[in-house]
Amino acid sequence: MSDLLVIDHLSKSFPKKKSDNLLVLDDINVHLAEGEFMALLGASGCGKSTLLRIVAGLEQPTSGGVWLDGHELVGPGRDRGMVFQAYTLYPWLSALKNVEFALSDRPARERTDTAREYLDVVGLAEFADHYPSQLSGGMQQRVAIARALALRPRILLMDEPFGALDAQTRGVMQELLLSIWERDRLSVLFVTHDVEESLILSDRVCVLASRPGRVKEIVEVTLPRPRMFGLQDTVEFRDLKHHVHSLIHDEAVRATGLEAVLARGKRP
Ligand SMILES: Nc1ncnc2c1ncn2[C@@H]1O[C@H](COP(=O)(O)OP(=O)(O)OP(=O)(O)O)[C@@H](O)[C@H]1O
Ligand SMILES: [Mg+2]
Repeated sequence: MSDLLVIDHLSKSFPKKKSDNLLVLDDINVHLAEGEFMALLGASGCGKSTLLRIVAGLEQPTSGGVWLDGHELVGPGRDRGMVFQAYTLYPWLSALKNVEFALSDRPARERTDTAREYLDVVGLAEFADHYPSQLSGGMQQRVAIARALALRPRILLMDEPFGALDAQTRGVMQELLLSIWERDRLSVLFVTHDVEESLILSDRVCVLASRPGRVKEIVEVTLPRPRMFGLQDTVEFRDLKHHVHSLIHDEAVRATGLEAVLARGKRP
């Protein structure tokens, strides 16, 4: 399979006020195949959003680069659809107009038809005229997903899109996303700090280490598809979860600087 997205020797530092620069991402190398679903998993502050924002073209790398379809990315583009963690709809526009807004370069008729089509894909056809304040958080994120999909992007970039939802709604949203992914054979880069979510959704989980953010391990998720309800109770799922948890746990301990304190407690 050919690579759709290549993140090559990518590093990112932010200037600090007094001392040296803060190195946030250090030599990240990731390849994503066409149609692949990859999760980026890591502790808070490890640089997940920064990496996604660089791929989205909203931030520039300090060194290295990102290639999509063999072209180096230098800024934002309609070939990438982004869904942010916070709700980002325009409150003064209806659901339909919010989706149409992303399509401002298209003729009016096509804009409306496409926006309606994608609101239907996320099950919100009947809510086209509702304003964000009249929609639940889950519904607002579905509009945001429709808005990203309506661009028919080469890749969908999602930054903890379900992080603010309750567990039940989150489960249903994961199912919805997988059904759309299977239908359209999308390519997805999905940021999460939730181990179960990363395993339910993805083909591979890219586990990031913290301070600076580095690729710790890329875990193949060998679970069969479609991923059915009850998947989490299988031995295969639990084994993978255990493995990924142990990677993340080491990182969390390191990130908090508590290695010595915790090691003290383990002494016989
Ligand atoms: N514009 C910026 N200027 C300076 N520092 C930044 C900037 N953006 C991010 N950082 C720093 O980069 C590090 C990584 O931030 P980032 O938001 O990418 O982490 P994250 O993994 O997405 O965390 P979370 O899970 O909490 O969303 C943090 O230390 C943050 O303070
Ligand atoms: Mg983040």
